[in-house]
Amino acid sequence: MNMMKTVVMGALLIGVGVTTSIVAQEVKDAEVTHINLNEGSSDKARIEKEDLGNKKSVTEESLGLRKTNLYDEVKAEGDKTDYTRPTAGTSTKFERAFTDAPPMIPHSVDGLLPITTTNNQCINCHMPDVAKSMGATPISETHFTNYRPHTVMKDGNVLKEGKVLGTELGNTSDIVIAKPTKTDTLYQGRFNCSQCHAPQSKTKTDVANTFRPDFGENTDKSKSTLLDTMNEGV
Ligand code: HEC
Ligand code: HEC
Repeated sequence: MNMMKTVVMGALLIGVGVTTSIVAQEVKDAEVTHINLNEGSSDKARIEKEDLGNKKSVTEESLGLRKTNLYDEVKAEGDKTDYTRPTAGTSTKFERAFTDAPPMIPHSVDGLLPITTTNNQCINCHMPDVAKSMGATPISETHFTNYRPHTVMKDGNVLKEGKVLGTELGNTSDIVIAKPTKTDTLYQGRFNCSQCHAPQSKTKTDVANTFRPDFGENTDKSKSTLLDTMNEGV
């Protein structure tokens, strides 16, 4: 037990020492309401340098992700991950990575992960009935909806939305839109929050990020609009 305590204390002290630049940005810029995670992550010069397609010759060093001699592991060391973040209630949220992207977790997840069938602390603060009083973003309405086709076995047949798969329906993709069913309880497929919402580490990536988000006409990068827009064009 004592050992455990020492280790935890050590981790805390390290946490204070390695103030990531995200945290620094928060402290410096009190008026920043949402941090742009994409900023600085897509470096044009680096992308060009790493693009092997336009080079006449390619060195072995540049072939691997680790960018060192492929026959020697001595210098092959990944960048450290650092998930240190302020505790829930004191962190600054991140901008969405693209329109209706799942928001990434801006606060510390110490003691919250892994989520298990009997321990999901995320819902204690994020369920819509409590979220406001906790200052947390309420879980999206989409998470209370089952978008999957209603599927049952009957007389040896698979019925999807009441139609027999294989005869009335060629395959599942013949179902254009399943009738969404909104329920009062969290949809089971959304229980494991960290499957989609992840904590973030300030890390040097092995390759440059070529992703460019397209927000279209959506100028608000701080909230979901999926429920309003999901049926557009249908
Ligand atoms: C003690 C309450 C609490 C717990 C437990 C908690 N959160 Fe939060 N969460 C918050 C608060 C408060 C915020 C708003 C930012 C802040 O104030 O730190 C937030 C922000 C977030 C956001 C960003 C939302 C946005 O609009 O950008 C996500 C995503 C999130 N939490 C996911 C999770 C997940 C997943 C878990 C479980 C692993 C979890 N939270 C556990 C209180 C909590
Ligand atoms: C299968 C992936 C997935 C899982 C699992 C999931 N989410 Fe989400 N979440 C999303 C996506 C995508 C969005 C953005 C679009 C939307 O609102 O549905 C979102 C949006 C949110 C938002 C922001 C709502 C807003 O109004 O901006 C919160 C808060 C949130 N989720 C919390 C949670 C929590 C807590 C859990 C676990 C109980 C969870 N989510 C499970 C994918 C997921």
